[in-house]
Amino acid sequence: VKKVTTHVLHAMKQRGEKISMLTAYDFSMARILDEAGIDVLLVGDSASNVMAGHETTLPITLDQIIYHAQSVVRGVDRSFVVVDLPFGCYQGDSKAALNSTIRIMKETGGHAVKLEGGSEISESISRILSAGVPVMGHLGLTPQSIYKFGTYSVRAKKEAEAKKLLEDAKLLEKLGCFAIVLEKIPAQLAKEVAQAVSIPIIGIGAGPDVDGQVLVVHDMLGMTKDFHPRFLRRYLNMYEMMKEATQRYIKDVKTQDFPNEKEQY
Ligand code: KIV
Ligand code: NA
Repeated sequence: VKKVTTHVLHAMKQRGEKISMLTAYDFSMARILDEAGIDVLLVGDSASNVMAGHETTLPITLDQIIYHAQSVVRGVDRSFVVVDLPFGCYQGDSKAALNSTIRIMKETGGHAVKLEGGSEISESISRILSAGVPVMGHLGLTPQSIYKFGTYSVRAKKEAEAKKLLEDAKLLEKLGCFAIVLEKIPAQLAKEVAQAVSIPIIGIGAGPDVDGQVLVVHDMLGMTKDFHPRFLRRYLNMYEMMKEATQRYIKDVKTQDFPNEKEQY
């Protein structure tokens, strides 16, 4: 198989082929998504929410994201695997950012890291890039800063914030990031950003005029139930499907329908 690389992703933007991206946190899911042909898998710190049940992405640790990334990489033949740097691993000092990145690259076999923020974290981004590790940026709604904003509402609706976001995107390109995630911002602004930079812009709640789309896989498959943002399209109702299958199993156990004559030794 021809593996997806940063060069492949850049070429996709140039010829106008949209990039497909989903999160993954474990081996079994990664194998399915990779076989389906997904271009990019993100070992997102959203694992903190959907895998661990926390309310925010802040609690997940470097050791925990490494465990998830190791599991995902084992399931992948073709996809490009990006790993989120957890909160606290890069905001304070660029040396810590590089050390965290080196651990991720050595211990997981992932291909790149993602960091939230623009000019505030430029030193960390530069230091990671100078070590030869591809960096994906993340602007707009940045969940690691939830307590600064207070809500998960749409970002950059006001002129000043929109201007800062566009400047940050240009800065990330200049620093050498290979792509940027734009989360929950007006579609028109996302379009302007995608036109202003030559690196791929991957949107989540950022409209159609960007270079690719990403969703949290549990949301896309309908495994989460109480999350209904406008940008989310559900392709299955896994929550109900799994619940119903479990109820049938319980019934078969109780009624001694399972196991039958063929299902034993
Ligand atoms: O952690 C995550 O799932 C993400 C995506 C929403 C981009 O960062
Ligand atoms: Na994330």
